[in-house]
Amino acid sequence: MYNTLINRRKMTRFPKGFMWGISMAAFQYEMGHSKEAVDPNSDWYLWLHNEENKKIGIVSGDVPEMGPGYWDLYKVDHDWAEWLGLNAWRMNPEWSRIFPKSTEEVKVNVESKEGDIIDVEVTEKDLKKLDAMANQKAVKKYKEIFKDINERGIKLIINLYHWPLPIWIHDPIKVRESKLKDGPKGWLEERTVVEFAKFAAYIAWKYEDYAYMWSTMNEPNVTWSIGYLGGNFPPGVNSIEAATKAAYNITQAHARAYDQIKRVIGKKAKVGIIYATTPSEPLTNSEKDIEAAKISDEVSTKWFFNAIVNGVISKNFVGEKIKREDMKEKVDWIGVNYYSRSVVRSKQEPPGYESVAGYGFSCSNMERSNAGLPVSEFGWEIYPEGIRKALKLYKEYEKPLMITENGVADKKDRHRAWYIVSHLYQVSKAIEEDGLKVIGYLHWSLIDNLEWASGFSKRFGLIYVDMSTKKRVPRPSAYLYRDIVTSNEIPEYLLEYSKFPNAIT
Ligand code: BGC
Repeated sequence: MYNTLINRRKMTRFPKGFMWGISMAAFQYEMGHSKEAVDPNSDWYLWLHNEENKKIGIVSGDVPEMGPGYWDLYKVDHDWAEWLGLNAWRMNPEWSRIFPKSTEEVKVNVESKEGDIIDVEVTEKDLKKLDAMANQKAVKKYKEIFKDINERGIKLIINLYHWPLPIWIHDPIKVRESKLKDGPKGWLEERTVVEFAKFAAYIAWKYEDYAYMWSTMNEPNVTWSIGYLGGNFPPGVNSIEAATKAAYNITQAHARAYDQIKRVIGKKAKVGIIYATTPSEPLTNSEKDIEAAKISDEVSTKWFFNAIVNGVISKNFVGEKIKREDMKEKVDWIGVNYYSRSVVRSKQEPPGYESVAGYGFSCSNMERSNAGLPVSEFGWEIYPEGIRKALKLYKEYEKPLMITENGVADKKDRHRAWYIVSHLYQVSKAIEEDGLKVIGYLHWSLIDNLEWASGFSKRFGLIYVDMSTKKRVPRPSAYLYRDIVTSNEIPEYLLEYSKFPNAIT
């Protein structure tokens, strides 16, 4: 008995210096308090206000101006972070706030080869020109916010892109209504790669002193899949050609942004990417289904990392591979966002697999998944083992890994306590048993916020927010997270609790 106890303790202790934090996104957090906080200059703002979108029901009708108001109340939220004992915080400065107007008149040197953008050169002179065009009020405000985070001894991870694009880059309504003919067309255009590189250089130049680590993008794969393959994200089209093109340009944009941060700050900058990681599992043990799960992981995850680690990419996900030396070794760390898995079976037609409803993300209106597991208010199966599998997918790249998002839509806090403990237990196994270098865990999210097209119906906060009064109230699970964070381990009593099946639905 004594021995088992000792071993269990060892297994659930996290490495020294482990980063404990939360992740947030500008668009989901910032607006909601003062008039000055409103930023109407992004494609997502247009998207959520569009009457047609509301009419056809692809957006909830909730708008960011009803949000939690971080732009004005950031100190309150930083107080909560301190109360939780956090030492890490991930956020993004919004592109459309910093550059509400086009930066295209700042002409930079672009090297292209057969239509591909293989280098962008942003000089000191260009940076000064960009500075003259930037919205200085927003630049200054972010500086205040970053400084406040730093002063509390919290390490800041600055991410550059968390989905909204300035309207001068992307007008999703025009793109959809013209059936992809009119723009500006966002990621479907190479110029966006160049403009993103300029934005990256500018942000690195302005905020070098505040960032402990950098990330170029959050979940680029969600942008190209939900935006271009029939989902409810802008521009809401359904075209495999457009999705492929967007994915290719986004991948180039990551590489070019990586270059800029390195050039401005130097080698010491730790530049990563945050990826929505959904490990695939076969429906049955048949060889065919096992093969199908492998292909699914290749297409959804390895396609991207093969490009930015090995410089090998196929333009349409599965076709002929080309070499892109200019994309090789463009990642220093990998951010893993994990929410659920995908269960797949073999399919004759390309790409060789299909996902099976009743598991993973496709459990809408079910209390339990087909595997008997609880399902969140978003219709997502709660599957803790998947976080370990998600981490394992990256083993071959030999980079430090960080869980940059993990959380659950759970307004009444029925699942969150079990969710946190059981997922963290799997993370500890990935470290101890799989030998993976996991350097941190950032929960999604600190406070309730705007869940994109689903609005405020989906609540991911450790801390509840009353959106009309903006009052923050910690949920019970926040106390539990605090206990784990401050002890840097899963306390014994919680470990015991996590062993019970999560039976509350
Ligand atoms: C995104 C967040 C989002 C969360 C929950 C992630 O895909 O990065 O912005 O709120 O998942 O859906």
